[in-house]
Amino acid sequence: MEIFLDTADISAIEKYKDFVDGVTTNPSILSRQKKKDVHDIVLKISRLVAGPVSVEVISGDFGGMVREGESLAKIHPNVCVKLPCTFDGLRACKTLSNKGIATNLTLCFSVPQAMMAAKCGATYVSPFIGRIDDIGQDGINLISDIVEVYGVYGFETKVLSASVRNINHFIQAAMAGTDAITVPEKVLEQVFTHPLTDIGLKKFMDDWNKSKGK
Ligand code: G3P
Repeated sequence: MEIFLDTADISAIEKYKDFVDGVTTNPSILSRQKKKDVHDIVLKISRLVAGPVSVEVISGDFGGMVREGESLAKIHPNVCVKLPCTFDGLRACKTLSNKGIATNLTLCFSVPQAMMAAKCGATYVSPFIGRIDDIGQDGINLISDIVEVYGVYGFETKVLSASVRNINHFIQAAMAGTDAITVPEKVLEQVFTHPLTDIGLKKFMDDWNKSKGK
């Protein structure tokens, strides 16, 4: 399973770069950066991680998305162009994928959207777990359904679970068979910390030091 960090914060990426396969961003995440030059931010991130760096187009129309996507892809070979699961976004996905440009179809909230993303050659599709939970439905069910349908038809597009709000989403998405997951720093931190590990380690050290008369 590929694990991506969902941030544009350079210090967070530097901290976890040895553990993640790539980075995902979106316009909201980039808008929170003090540095506003997207090209510079994307280039810096792309040089820090080995894997894909998802960067979303701002254009809402097919032509603008294709032009922007081609421009973003030129920043660095790691760049993966993020496109929304709209008519124009799916159309742009087909065009950019045919040019060999990696794509990540984002804001996916249904199985048909995910199926069309796969038929348009998307590299990744990003179903948003948390935002489905926010409206009282079960976001993990969407991951399971997409994984199942992709298996039935042998689609090569990778399911990239997104909008992950807590460690339970991480666990449930993995159990649902997601190919990849993108998590904010606050969730990734929880992968590396467990209270019982800390308590157990302290006990080991205390017992060891006591036996040495320390
Ligand atoms: O990559 C998508 C993710 O950033 C959205 O998460 O928590 O804003 O729904 P959230």
